Amino acid sequence: MLYPSKMVLQRGASERGEGVYTEYMTDAEQACNNAAESLSRDIYPSRMVLQRGASERGEEVYTEYMTDAEQACNNAAESLLRGIIDSHCHLDRLDLTPYGNSLDAALDAARNVGVSHFLCVSVDMNNCHSVLQIAHTYPDVSASVGLHPAEQDTIEPSLDDLLKLASDEVVIAIGETGLDYYHVQGDRTWQQERFRCHIRAARELGKPLIIHTREASEDTIRILKEEKAHEVGGVMHCFTETLSVAKQAMELGFYISFSGIITFKNATDLQSLVKHIPLDRMLIETDSPYLAPMPYRGKPNEPAYVKYVAEKIAELLELDYAIIAKATSDNFYRLFC
Ligand code: NI
Repeated sequence: MLYPSKMVLQRGASERGEGVYTEYMTDAEQACNNAAESLSRDIYPSRMVLQRGASERGEEVYTEYMTDAEQACNNAAESLLRGIIDSHCHLDRLDLTPYGNSLDAALDAARNVGVSHFLCVSVDMNNCHSVLQIAHTYPDVSASVGLHPAEQDTIEPSLDDLLKLASDEVVIAIGETGLDYYHVQGDRTWQQERFRCHIRAARELGKPLIIHTREASEDTIRILKEEKAHEVGGVMHCFTETLSVAKQAMELGFYISFSGIITFKNATDLQSLVKHIPLDRMLIETDSPYLAPMPYRGKPNEPAYVKYVAEKIAELLELDYAIIAKATSDNFYRLFC
């Protein structure tokens, strides 16, 4: 279900007018080739170091050590298999004009830069049907079911509605849900009830939650606790809160997802915060078509741009891109599969 396109052939024309194909290599493949090359270049590194020791029973035993180059090659090969994952996008809302109105072409643009999976997120009961349909069309797209906390004048799903819709095999999460006190003033009881209803659905189905929280972190954490959301966990999507909120969420088994915001020049708080989030708790996302990362800030966002988020995190943490790719993909599969 989750195989990335390993090599992309793009059709063009030669000078003589023949049809030719150009090979494009994904970043992960490049990293793998580099690692393989460093492994076999001129002097051969000791491929496997055996260290002699003794077992508890006094027998001689050998411990295997892997060389750095082999480790790098293995990491790159693994990330090649998995690529990077856009853990939050709204594929039914993308601006497809640059792609001749073809969603497949937009997804291909992302696959070409190594995006191996997409989690397409519902925001209301109308659009969730398109979301489910997209996930049924593409094997590398999964879906969520939920009603966004800021949506008003819309169909309010009952617990049963959510359970029914989310029992579809392509649905791997409930959301996005949460609290948004920025867009909704006045009485917010209905919003909190909606949030509780989503958490109950998630627990009943054993599927993780996708949480949107804006100017409401205290109540968000409180309700997550009251409704025992730790039983299913989930992700704090498009995270822009404080480290203290991140820590409270992680204590409840939640992951922290970074979007294009982390690439913005003025996002200095978030850029320092990421250094305090363990690698095994991070996810990356576009939230496309919103929040395009640098260098596309202000323009329509698309899933291919998730690589800029991974690149920025790699730069901030001074780690290889392949390490961020592997960690965030591992986290995605651990949480959602
Ligand atoms: Ni979203």
